[in-house]
Amino acid sequence: MPKLSLLDLVVADKRILVRVDFNVPLNEQNEVVDDTRIVEALPTIRHLISHQAKTILLAHFGRPKGTVNAKYSLAPVAAHLKKLLVKENGAVHFCNECVGPVAEKAIAGMKSGDVLLLENVRFHAEEETNDPKFAQALATLGDLYVNDAFGAAHRAHASTAGIAAHLPQAAMGLLMEKEVRYLHGELTHPKKPFLVILGGSKVSDKIGVIESLMKKADTFLIGGAMAYTFFKALGIETALSRVEADKLDLARDILKKAEERGIKFLLPLDCIATQEIKAGAATQNITLSKEFGIPLGWEGVDIGLATRELYAKEIAQAATILWNGPVGIFEIPDFAGGTRALAEAIAANSEALSIIGGGDSVTAVKQFGLAEKMSFISTGGGASLQLLEGKKLPGIAALTDK
Ligand code: 3PG
Repeated sequence: MPKLSLLDLVVADKRILVRVDFNVPLNEQNEVVDDTRIVEALPTIRHLISHQAKTILLAHFGRPKGTVNAKYSLAPVAAHLKKLLVKENGAVHFCNECVGPVAEKAIAGMKSGDVLLLENVRFHAEEETNDPKFAQALATLGDLYVNDAFGAAHRAHASTAGIAAHLPQAAMGLLMEKEVRYLHGELTHPKKPFLVILGGSKVSDKIGVIESLMKKADTFLIGGAMAYTFFKALGIETALSRVEADKLDLARDILKKAEERGIKFLLPLDCIATQEIKAGAATQNITLSKEFGIPLGWEGVDIGLATRELYAKEIAQAATILWNGPVGIFEIPDFAGGTRALAEAIAANSEALSIIGGGDSVTAVKQFGLAEKMSFISTGGGASLQLLEGKKLPGIAALTDK
């Protein structure tokens, strides 16, 4: 059932409670080091400012476990938001409470066009337990609700889900709509060939996504530590590589299903192996086969050179590309070559719709300076995986049907 959109709401002079995901990294000076999530929420905020709403932003920051902790204050984020909205006429304020008389007073002082960011909702334990009284207390602060926090939409918390039932209209924000369009809508009938790149450490994390995308994808390219679970399942020596020993049957089952359905399910031909996970460590490019796996005492940390070439060819032929999970330990430059090669291959295929499905692969693409070359980059980690698995996200399910 389609949900109400921000664009369906009449917002002028109303108090609009907007849940955003401002869970962004800060440095030691408390400065925002990656403001993507804040920037991506600006279209919703700007729409509300220009339509003379009173915009009240609800957000979480880190995991303070229900207690007030200055380390997890949203004050530095408010300062950053203020800088981003400097051209807008309205004022941007911060309130060091998210509920109760202090918040009520701050809201009572707002003028139409103003923006107010409330303190971390997770300073209250009732947020994560989705306590109905807390949800109602939050709801009393506004007239209507908008959820633009895609990154937290997989959490059934008071400010992401419970609150919606206590307000007459609860709508999707513009970022939320965009995320759903790319991670769900565009992939419902994807342009073919549809290629999926999956990496990351665990097969078990991706099993839901694999099962769901097997119904649509033509090709899977596998990398990252999860590849070694497949190798082990095929009887190839993996030595010190990370393997999920209890998922070998699952891995065999996936390979069998892929074969039965005629899906190209490619595992690396070779890998970069090392004896130490650190910059500058000695490495070798090892061709993988039943006879010659990874030498004892070594560990696979990236896809090898032949694999990069093979995968790049596949990427060049794809019309739709979905990527979730780096294919090597890209945080260490010596082991980032494979992930970089795939990012470059995707960037080079400008004809394809390229969707980067959140989490570490997004960090990698940004690190390589290739974010602009992708069609869409998700702001969600766990939320994007769950959406790709075809699951309902509580933060969306709770909203008003159109
Ligand atoms: C995230 O950073 O992935 C979201 O903001 C959700 O945060 P959480 O995993 O602490 O719920």
